[in-house]
Amino acid sequence: MIDYAQKIPNNVNLANDRTLQRALEHWQPKFLDWWGEMGPHDFAGADVYLRTATGVDAQGWASYGAVKMPDYRWGIFLADPVAERKIGFGDNFGQPVWQQVPGELRSQFRRIIVTQGDTEPASVEQQHLLGHTCPSLYDLRNLFQVNVEEGRHLWAMVYLLHAYFGRDGREEAEELLARHSGDADKPRILGTFNQPISDWLSFFMFTYFTDRDGKFQLKGLAESGFDPLSRTCRFMLTEEAHHMFVGETGVGRVVKRTLEVMKELGTDDPQAVRAHGAIDLPTIQRYMNFWFTSSLDLYGSEVSSNAASSFANGIKGRPDESQYEDHMCTDASYELEAPEGRQTVSLRNAMNEVMRTAYIKDCEIGVKRWNMQIQRAGFDQRLALASPRFHRAIGAWANMPIDPQGNLIGREQYERRLADWLPSESDRAFVRSLMQRVVEPGKIAGWLAPPDRGINNLPVDYEYVRLQ
Ligand SMILES: [Fe+2]
Ligand SMILES: [Fe+2]
Repeated sequence: MIDYAQKIPNNVNLANDRTLQRALEHWQPKFLDWWGEMGPHDFAGADVYLRTATGVDAQGWASYGAVKMPDYRWGIFLADPVAERKIGFGDNFGQPVWQQVPGELRSQFRRIIVTQGDTEPASVEQQHLLGHTCPSLYDLRNLFQVNVEEGRHLWAMVYLLHAYFGRDGREEAEELLARHSGDADKPRILGTFNQPISDWLSFFMFTYFTDRDGKFQLKGLAESGFDPLSRTCRFMLTEEAHHMFVGETGVGRVVKRTLEVMKELGTDDPQAVRAHGAIDLPTIQRYMNFWFTSSLDLYGSEVSSNAASSFANGIKGRPDESQYEDHMCTDASYELEAPEGRQTVSLRNAMNEVMRTAYIKDCEIGVKRWNMQIQRAGFDQRLALASPRFHRAIGAWANMPIDPQGNLIGREQYERRLADWLPSESDRAFVRSLMQRVVEPGKIAGWLAPPDRGINNLPVDYEYVRLQ
């Protein structure tokens, strides 16, 4: 069970390790300062109906209630250990998992934990001002739920750094609060996490596409041979599911409202839809293109010796490693489509691509649901995931003039058509113009449909955030 009497709630027996406890209690006020400065702007006094982790049981692991965000109990929770757990992949396949970081893998593990940890506070920073323009109290609550849990994910990684990496780890934990999203001097490590999220359509796209990258990264790390990392990530995945729910239902509600307006007006003309206060489907598609392709870059290059060594050493496995038969992948190969033509590379070197492919498949599920809505409304348009070659900044296809269908085209034509494929300044200005704050219980902005149901069986018109 989780010890809530402690300053830092935890299920890792922190009280029995005074040195570690002191170090984390020293970091805690710095975290709270960071939250106060970079977290949700202006809502410190609001009572928010939040879930807080209270155990790691599959049933009933959270409690719900009104909390002021600065009082949220950020804690350290690891999923229960699996008895006799063995390393499930790579050169050490079948050996007992490690309870300490093997010395020779220390810097590799540290880098991967820091990179994961860096994304968590980054997303809170990206959404710093978003609360001001919430389309409803229900949505505002969901934003804050995601924010506090990303804060907890930062705690999860900081715990590992403090507990297993000594002084280097403590220094890295400080740096996690010193880098900031979009900062000119000290930006966050990964590109996507330096993009501002200043409108709610972007927020829904981010939670759909970028939190889903998080899911796949965590799934890979949940396979890790370093058991505390695996257990940490397994519990984070429980929380992560809600973030993607926010994204999928959020985009779905935008599409629903757009379809209502299209039906009412009897036209799919984007200008007419916009004049009626809804977001036209082509604009939704352009936002999808932007966040999907930006999230694809998070997996890294198609061919990567780093990914190979991470797999070989038992640091990061493939998501759901147990679905595969071959866990060594020493002789296996992988077929890749590169700009120069088809390539055969060793499977270990293609691990990034294996993960990206699994991610893309998962992304398709929501898109199919949104298209079902469009089809049922009787319209012919369809939303689609862009080709993974389009608009890439990393890997073999980086910076190439490729259209969303994946065709190589002339550079000039590419530049000319980019505004059809990615949100233009005027798209962004239009979407921003819709972002009007709606904070009466049960009321909802005109550019999206209300949710089908409320949180934790409460009605949709429940006062999820009580503003002061
Ligand atoms: Fe997270
Ligand atoms: Fe998340």
